[in-house]
Amino acid sequence: MPVSTGALTRERLFLLLIMRTVFWEDDSLKLIDQRRLPGSLEVAVCRTYGEVSDAIRNMTVRGAPAIGAAAAFGLALAANGSRARSAAYLLADIETAAQTLKASRPTAVNLAWAVDRILRSLGDKVDGRSVDGIRQAVINEAQRIADEDVEINKRMAEHGAALIADGDTIIHHCNTGALAVVDWGTALGVIRTAHGQGKRLHVLVDETRPRLQGARLTAWELQQYGISYEIISDNMSGYFLRSGQVQKVFFGADRIAANGDVANKIGTYMLALAAHDNDVPVYSVAPTSSIDLSLEDGSQIPIEERDPGEVLGLQLNGERVAPEGAKARNPAFDVTPNRLITAIVTENGIVHPPFEVNLKEFIV
Ligand code: MRU
Repeated sequence: MPVSTGALTRERLFLLLIMRTVFWEDDSLKLIDQRRLPGSLEVAVCRTYGEVSDAIRNMTVRGAPAIGAAAAFGLALAANGSRARSAAYLLADIETAAQTLKASRPTAVNLAWAVDRILRSLGDKVDGRSVDGIRQAVINEAQRIADEDVEINKRMAEHGAALIADGDTIIHHCNTGALAVVDWGTALGVIRTAHGQGKRLHVLVDETRPRLQGARLTAWELQQYGISYEIISDNMSGYFLRSGQVQKVFFGADRIAANGDVANKIGTYMLALAAHDNDVPVYSVAPTSSIDLSLEDGSQIPIEERDPGEVLGLQLNGERVAPEGAKARNPAFDVTPNRLITAIVTENGIVHPPFEVNLKEFIV
């Protein structure tokens, strides 16, 4: 439910620049409503874990680390909302909420990672524990996950900025900025930090059909940061890569398998293929919480298939483009094979191939 609505005035923009995408306030979870940007800033308030699960599914909150942090606070809401009077019953209620939250979206492993981290922190021993103590422990751990996310993003950005040279033009896919995390950003965080170091950059922002995270959110963020950019439609990247106008490709990750295959927003694979064919380096930037060593390769990563209405809803001149009765497919992610990836930037440093050997060294 929005607490503040309306067009983005200067004051609202300032507020947005200093506020987090996901935060805990007044015993509620507050989320910048990403469905409304760039037109207006609204803060959605979740008071139950069910509302958090809905907000993740309908993409009020989106981006792998952001949905992880939101789910962590979802468990805090579950703990606060439980009527259990004993530690054992409270832990059972938290476990039920954990299953619902994890099932909200399947691809980004950060969701399960954050939920499991909270459950692990509680342990399974109930002897001598008060329900209030457990509730506070869940809130504290969720807050730690959120705070650490900001610090991790800034570390990743410092590592990644070393890859960017003065004068680079970069193609960026989807939205990986402050909106996709708790604050700062993954791939866009790298670009922000490089810009802050005084490097002159230009970003080609691909639209990222069908939800347009690039055209709506990344373009909007770059505008706030004063970084030079132009929007291109997704099918233009091959042209810019082949004509030598691009020096690097950057994107995030929703899940990275043990061999370095990267699941990310649909369209990443085609972009990486075109970059590889033109000897343009391809970088994925992701916290180690996006690495899933339990999966040998990317073929095991579950790919979310969303409502075809997201594809069919496109309008031109105020009219729907697709004919009535048209059908569509809508996989939300694809897997880019490790051979197309030059390096993976994490908070612990830059991982180079062979990823099947090197990735695990970076998880501490
Ligand atoms: O469907 P979305 O918008 O949640 O997908 C997000 C992405 O694919 C991002 O690129 C990814 O989460 C990494 S950026 C933090």
